[in-house]
Amino acid sequence: MEAMPFPVHRPRRLRASESLRRLVRETSLAPENFILPLFVVEGEGVRKPISSMPGNAQMSIDGIVEKCAECKSLGVGGVILFGIPDHKDEEASQGRAADGIVPRAVRAIRQEVPGLLVVTDVCNCEYTSHGHCGKIVDGDVENDTTLGWLTEAAVAHARAGADIVAPSDMMDGRVRAIRQGLDAAGYSKLPILSYAAKYASSFYGPFREAAESAPQFGDRRSYQMDPANAREAMREIALDLEEGADMIMVKPAGPYLDIIKEASQRWDVPLAAYQVSGEFSMIKAAAQNGWIDENRAMLESLISIRRAGAGTILTYYACDAARALAS
Ligand code: PBG
Repeated sequence: MEAMPFPVHRPRRLRASESLRRLVRETSLAPENFILPLFVVEGEGVRKPISSMPGNAQMSIDGIVEKCAECKSLGVGGVILFGIPDHKDEEASQGRAADGIVPRAVRAIRQEVPGLLVVTDVCNCEYTSHGHCGKIVDGDVENDTTLGWLTEAAVAHARAGADIVAPSDMMDGRVRAIRQGLDAAGYSKLPILSYAAKYASSFYGPFREAAESAPQFGDRRSYQMDPANAREAMREIALDLEEGADMIMVKPAGPYLDIIKEASQRWDVPLAAYQVSGEFSMIKAAAQNGWIDENRAMLESLISIRRAGAGTILTYYACDAARALAS
């Protein structure tokens, strides 16, 4: 570029009208980019609003099916299911049950809303009485026993007809264990979306109300990542890809755009990012106070995650954003 670019160069020329801005826009958002997280509970006609996540609710299977039909009609990319069982125990046994809440929900969605992509979250924390993501031995989650639990859960979800299984526990070796378990059970075609770089984040707070999964003692820092680490995220992702992950995820999204960016430049696999509960609730709360414009903040937060390099975004705004894009 020449020494004195102005007045020859005036970047504002290409911002003068919406038609020009549209022409040179580098990033786009579309409903199929979004996956809506849903919380499924036992019962019939149950709809329990989640106070820290306005607009979201725990729902029984009938309500979940209705919401899924809405997602499908809006063209949303899919849903991800989190199960909240009636009965929790030390061994997360409901998480692996063939007729557990998630397998039953998957079957119902398959039946009632054919063609909608259904992802299942594979983790133990919603099913353990202590709220940790695996078997507790000496006050910490024991890695290798937990792998068996996760594998059984993934196979149960596969049998029910899940399109993708997504392990979110952060145990070492879980992708390999789940891949082997799925293959042995005849599901070698079922993709794994690994929550490869998942941080021990304060932004999961509202989710833990939603999923009733707050740890009853301690925290998750012995298995989820330290927010200070970026290089370690690349290592986690590399290991999951070696173990057979088909897609990878960075979570949370907004505060970790640098991680998304680096991962997208480094690996040629589909990359997802999770705009987590706290990111959603912060925008909601500010909007409810009249401090920001919710619609604009929603779309800006989502386009930023795409701009950083994520193809798919798990977001509680999936339906709202799809509607906003259509209008
Ligand atoms: C379960 C899980 C969590 C989230 C997704 N899967 C919570 C956690 O790790 O404590 C958080 C999602 C959100 O905050 O929206 N392991």
